Amino acid sequence: MNPHVFPIPTDLASKAHVDARGYEEMYRRSIDDPEGFWREQAQILDWSRPFTQVKNTRYSPEDVTIEWFADGRLNASYNCLDRHAAQKGSEPAILWAGDTPGDQRRVTWSDLRQEVSRLANTLTKLGVKKGDFVSVYLPVIPEAIAAMLACARIGAVHSVVFSGFSAEALAGRIKDCRSRVLITADEGLRAGKYVPLKKNADAALESLPFVEHVLVVRRTSRDVPMNPERDLWYDGALAQAPADCPPVEVGAEDPLFVLYTSGSTGKPKGMLHTTGGYLVHAAASFRAMFDYHPGDIHFCTADVGWVTAHTYLIYGPLANGATVVLFEGVPTWPDASRWWQIIEAYRVNIFYTAPTAIRSLMREGEAPVRKHDLSSLRVLGSVGEPINPEAWLWYHEVVGGGRCPITDTYWQTETGAVLLCPLPGAMALKPGSAAKPFFGVRPALLNSDGSAVEGEGAGNLCFADSWPGQARTILGDRERFLKTYFSTFPGYYFTGDGARRDADGYYWITGRLDDVINVSGHRLGTVEIEAALASHSSVAEAAVVGFPHEIKGQGIFAFVTLKEGITESDELRRELLQLVRTRIGPIAMPDRIEWAPQLPKNRSGKILRRILTRIAAGDFESHGDTSTVADLSVVEDIVRRFQKQN
Ligand code: PRX
Repeated sequence: MNPHVFPIPTDLASKAHVDARGYEEMYRRSIDDPEGFWREQAQILDWSRPFTQVKNTRYSPEDVTIEWFADGRLNASYNCLDRHAAQKGSEPAILWAGDTPGDQRRVTWSDLRQEVSRLANTLTKLGVKKGDFVSVYLPVIPEAIAAMLACARIGAVHSVVFSGFSAEALAGRIKDCRSRVLITADEGLRAGKYVPLKKNADAALESLPFVEHVLVVRRTSRDVPMNPERDLWYDGALAQAPADCPPVEVGAEDPLFVLYTSGSTGKPKGMLHTTGGYLVHAAASFRAMFDYHPGDIHFCTADVGWVTAHTYLIYGPLANGATVVLFEGVPTWPDASRWWQIIEAYRVNIFYTAPTAIRSLMREGEAPVRKHDLSSLRVLGSVGEPINPEAWLWYHEVVGGGRCPITDTYWQTETGAVLLCPLPGAMALKPGSAAKPFFGVRPALLNSDGSAVEGEGAGNLCFADSWPGQARTILGDRERFLKTYFSTFPGYYFTGDGARRDADGYYWITGRLDDVINVSGHRLGTVEIEAALASHSSVAEAAVVGFPHEIKGQGIFAFVTLKEGITESDELRRELLQLVRTRIGPIAMPDRIEWAPQLPKNRSGKILRRILTRIAAGDFESHGDTSTVADLSVVEDIVRRFQKQN
């Protein structure tokens, strides 16, 4: 037996929704008869009006159409709440663990239904109607879930903004979708530190007079300024709202949410997701990829501001009636056993996290894990970036006790839900591989000339047909949507990632091929960071690239050219870091800033980031193809400076 392949656990497979034969049969059927396959899968939801059409999708260069279940009608909050509240109202929907150990809340299905209804009624009273956008800037607290479901209940479209983003980043995202209502909190609490959410929101709204109402959740209950004309306390408003709010029926193709993500150029893209297809894909894939069974407790560590939480902490699990653990804090505070403590306390069965966290916890050794009884765990998941085999093996052995399969799930904000992953009862595992396509998903590896790589080989990771959870457009910019995803390889959706397929048909993601870097599983556009750096009055220009980082996967390396007469200094470095923090947020702060007298460019003046990427990785010898470099001495100059320092 190949020591690098982990066989399917037989006891798990015997009880799994999908076993090895089942996968092969279902996958074939999903490709041969996608209509029939997805019609069946869609029965996981309750439709207030059943659909007659399943799929209307085309990726042809003249016509990109993405529609699923188009004439069906439903309500997402009904599917995620009411139907479960009716059956098990007093059981927990959310088990919340606060930042401070011991601070916890148990929210039952009935409680959540009531809170969502009161909030939905409050939003309606504030003038929010079907199709309106509502921005949400909240910590990881039950109110964040309530806010999303309350929007869904009345057909409004939520836009959750990660609470680690700065005021400026928040402002850009509110402006783009023009929401007139913002839901935020007085403050957040992370690793014992207060995060000034209301203060950031106030700063963001200074330039956005169209925002009429701000609902403020009391999280820390410390003093924050309230503007009586605009701001309302969440608890006060909800106390006055009726506890019943009938869900508004919406069309399957009506929008459910927008979520911003970084691209390789320009401002963040608002990926627009619709209701029916997204919820079918989220619910069906959650059930299959984690082999969810009723009664399972599911713990996804993602922040509500990312797509991982939208799909596999909130919509997918709740549509299945799963109890979710919601954790506000960080895994290493007050000590490195925090997650393991939570898993033990709540008897968690399914645990889903990112490789970067595993790598940082590995550094703390096995003791914090071994202190806790993790025998309840059955399935583990990984998401957001390639997982290196060392981290995979530690996760498998130390956390999963050698018995829990790890599902390495490949997908994107744009894809809405998973595209590649092993199903725990159906596939042997290879550490670092996202295994095989999910049902209905047709991967293709293409050479740069557009020809397909057959069998074993590597190429641009593309998909030949649509899947239900796919984003329908970039809010307000269909041209950019078509150009970004459908123009490089006509007839295909292009992910921006590279991948390799091995002899067994397993896929291995090799990373981004564009100017996007993946830092701790967070996706950042290098261009955005460059723009922030270049806005400093002393900076002539800046180039940002990723470099291998032991914990974060990729770190951020900034090459900065100063204006004539400006002296290089540590003080200036600090100012630049602060500037990135203010313009985007702490996650985008460079790990290294180095001064470069000039940046390598091609003859038309485009910065050659691939050369800088090699230098940042410590490779001073091979610059790759330098035939396009306008002035090679610029490269030699940077290398000389580096060799002196390193
Ligand atoms: O490069 C891929 C990487 O993360 C990108 C998508 O980032 P985002 O939209 O923020 O969504 C992250 C959570 C779904 C992809 O283009 N990525 C995501 N999952 C994996 C991955 N790389 C390797 N393996 C994965 N499992």
